[in-house]
Amino acid sequence: FQTKVLRGKRLLLTAGPTFEAIDPVRGITNLSSGKMGYAIARAAREAGAEVMLISGQTALAAPYGVQRINVLSAQQMHDAVLSKIAGQDIFVAVAAVADWRVTNASEQKLKKNPDGSAPALSFEQNPDILATVAALPSAPYCVGFAAESENLLQYAEAKRLKKNVPLLVGNIGHETFGNDENQFVLFDVEGHTSFPRAGKLQLARQLVAEIAKRITKTSH
Ligand code: C5P
Repeated sequence: FQTKVLRGKRLLLTAGPTFEAIDPVRGITNLSSGKMGYAIARAAREAGAEVMLISGQTALAAPYGVQRINVLSAQQMHDAVLSKIAGQDIFVAVAAVADWRVTNASEQKLKKNPDGSAPALSFEQNPDILATVAALPSAPYCVGFAAESENLLQYAEAKRLKKNVPLLVGNIGHETFGNDENQFVLFDVEGHTSFPRAGKLQLARQLVAEIAKRITKTSH
């Protein structure tokens, strides 16, 4: 049982992978299942928040009472977030957003070359959705995620400062993707706190409680 610690708050979050097209039927994606983000959406709604989820392609149903907008690419996710950000109190970026998109995606399905040569793809960097939102003049309270495979303590705090967010959740990337369990280390201005390995919904509820504590403190 959890009290309605986010009653009256509006919370926007991103979840799942992005899909960067190569041609009309192929693309580059990653192994994010969306489970962590969807669990946070559910926990936030249970805590009384009005929740909107901007989601990449996943196999999950939208949690009860949560509005969902489906997107494929990082650019679409960015545009959807910016179109919904006004009036939000909290933004939680859980999505595994592709760092790069293909600039020369083909309008037609790519065909094999008779000479056996492979197509050449070129890339450009995608916008950083979290950093963009955190830099808005009336930014909501922003929470980021960092999936690192090594040096979590060092990389995660550096990421928190670089993206300029008050709260960053560190987890070990290859362990969390697709799993029902996860392990958190929370980073904020006061340092870091570890949360023991647990189911994603349980961790989501703990995170919601931590967010609620902090927004009351900062009177957001
Ligand atoms: O830089 P990195 O991808 O490791 O940062 C992870 C955090 O930033 C996550 O919260 C993720 O959702 C967010 N992010 C984003 N837009 C990007 C890249 C990452 O919102 N283009």
